[in-house]
Amino acid sequence: MLAAYAARIDPEEPLSALVVGEVDEPDVPEGWVAVEVRAASLNHHDVWSLKGVGLPQERLPMILGCDAAGVDPDGNEVIVHAVISDPDWRGDESLDPKRSLLSEVHPGTLAERVAVPRHNLVPKPEELSFEQACCLPTAYLTAYRMLFTRGRLRPGQTVLVQGAAGGVASAAIALARAAGARVWATSREERKREYAVELGAHQAFESGARLPDRVDLVIETVGEATWAHSLRAVKPGGIVVVAGATSGMNPPADLSRVFFKQIEVIGSTMGTRDELGDLVAMMEATGLRPRIDRSLPLAEAADGIAAMIAGDVFGKIVLRP
Ligand SMILES: NC(=O)c1ccc[n+]([C@@H]2O[C@H](COP(=O)([O-])OP(=O)(O)OC[C@H]3O[C@@H](n4cnc5c(N)ncnc54)[C@H](OP(=O)(O)O)[C@@H]3O)[C@@H](O)[C@H]2O)c1
Repeated sequence: MLAAYAARIDPEEPLSALVVGEVDEPDVPEGWVAVEVRAASLNHHDVWSLKGVGLPQERLPMILGCDAAGVDPDGNEVIVHAVISDPDWRGDESLDPKRSLLSEVHPGTLAERVAVPRHNLVPKPEELSFEQACCLPTAYLTAYRMLFTRGRLRPGQTVLVQGAAGGVASAAIALARAAGARVWATSREERKREYAVELGAHQAFESGARLPDRVDLVIETVGEATWAHSLRAVKPGGIVVVAGATSGMNPPADLSRVFFKQIEVIGSTMGTRDELGDLVAMMEATGLRPRIDRSLPLAEAADGIAAMIAGDVFGKIVLRP
């Protein structure tokens, strides 16, 4: 079958480590199923994998991709939950110390078929196309958990989303607006600030700008570049939820601000299968649809990954096997 995979690791030139070509069909262990992938979407995670972050040399070659929607062996249209937990794990899968994401230990979704535990399948509603549905399992699910589970966002509260055009950030803007929050966003670029407002932000500001008021919740995936601003922006007793650090992992901690303002700094990673089900229901109930930047044949995966590396993306990049 055709697949896009990491043939080697290259921290400097990640695109040069990508191959799109023929590979063997995936193994399907007991309790797993092979899903016919109709659409898969890219995430920054795919770039990290090509750079060797979370993907050691001994697991190569590895098919990339966390997100997919497709058809299961019984003909059901499904969305694939990307978090693979230990078969003996019970409860919140994202807390399983042995969990992995598709493409870290098990082959990923940028292929004609992907094998996953049957439990990881969530029914795809008819109203969502395969291309829309495949955008949900990583960026949208991460944003959903950050906002509503970890960030405890309530309608009427004010949320600040840092790095407005990012995959998780743009999902957070749209979901928070649909849930009745006041949404502010930051970005370094004017056209991305305009994009944030199109997505539903009430106002967009330059990165680091002084805001009209303090916020209840900050959604942080940028890291070093925005961290100090996030701690300044939040109200006393407010919450900063962190799920990524694209610009660097080691910002100054500014602990005096954390304890003096009694800020809750909360980590968040992906989400559970049940949260993915709730997210799908939210999309159905609100009519919200993921923004798709472009949809390419799987054979053109390199073009999609190059656009992500260049940061020249407004919405999700979808690949069609
Ligand atoms: N924990 C999890 O489960 C989880 C899940 C998904 C993603 N993540 C992580 O979250 C991060 C974002 O992922 P993504 O897929 O949303 O990535 P992305 O689409 O590449 O977004 C990154 C955003 O970060 C901002 N940014 C980057 N460098 C910056 C800098 N020097 N200064 C200011 N802003 C900067 C940019 O915002 P502007 O250009 O608008 O300023 C950009 O849009 C990644 O590190 C990813 O690994 C974690």
